[in-house]
Amino acid sequence: MSFDEAALARARERVAGAERILVLSGAGLSAESGLDTFRGAGGLWRNHRATDLATPEAFARDPDLVWAFYEARRAAAFDVEPNPGHHALALLEERLGDGLLHLTQNVDGLIAAAGARRALEIHGSLRQVRCSRGCSEPFEDLRRPFPHPAVCDGCGSLLRPAVVWFGEGLDPDHLDRGFAFGARAEVVLVVGTSGQVEPAASLAREAARHGAALIDVNPEPSLLASHATEVLTGPAGAVLPRLIAT
Ligand code: OAD
Ligand code: ZN
Repeated sequence: MSFDEAALARARERVAGAERILVLSGAGLSAESGLDTFRGAGGLWRNHRATDLATPEAFARDPDLVWAFYEARRAAAFDVEPNPGHHALALLEERLGDGLLHLTQNVDGLIAAAGARRALEIHGSLRQVRCSRGCSEPFEDLRRPFPHPAVCDGCGSLLRPAVVWFGEGLDPDHLDRGFAFGARAEVVLVVGTSGQVEPAASLAREAARHGAALIDVNPEPSLLASHATEVLTGPAGAVLPRLIAT
């Protein structure tokens, strides 16, 4: 393994001794399940069109095209399995109960598939759709292909994927919970995120500023590495099972 074994041992001790851990995860957590990251080699957002498609304006202009892009993402996400990184985080949740808060930027549902029931999906979920006018709550719909165009029962507007698009805000309750929990956490565990997207990056930095030890798990240096107490340079599926082993 390419990372420093001494760093892993120190990080493992911090995790084992902590009663409150904030976990922040990103696309890298699902990379070993076979899903593309956004900014890595061959990443989804490398293709400029993808960035153009993940906006409310794009949906208003050409909903068929946006649905085609999400159909492909749903197919990819629904066909893969959680990896040992997801399973390790599910085990940590089981161990710590309310002492763990997991905010994920991932929309693939793999954390729940690994048995973790309480991760907050701050960027939404490919497993859900919602009214594009926002008249009601998102709901689960796993039909494949999704029978677009389908309309909201309440107001007749088109249904859209229940994911957060560029230019849209996050659920303020998720953020409040993340910042409040982070301010009193002993460890903030950052997994598979480039740290380029707010507010996930600030959640990690703020928790560290309040005294949490930041552990960064990533095969490449992330933007959060300079704030980290321990940098574990390796893939989540290999590092996390060893990190949380008691
Ligand atoms: P990125 O694609 O920006 O970053 C993925 C990170 O995962 C990179 O730092 C990789 O080095 C790392 N990585 C790759 N393989 C890994 C592995 N096996 N184990 C651990 N880490 C690995 O993805 P995010 O940070 O999740 O938002 O991107 C954040 C948000 O940007 C996404 O949720 C999406 C996008 O715009 C929305 O769609 C709203
Ligand atoms: Zn509606």
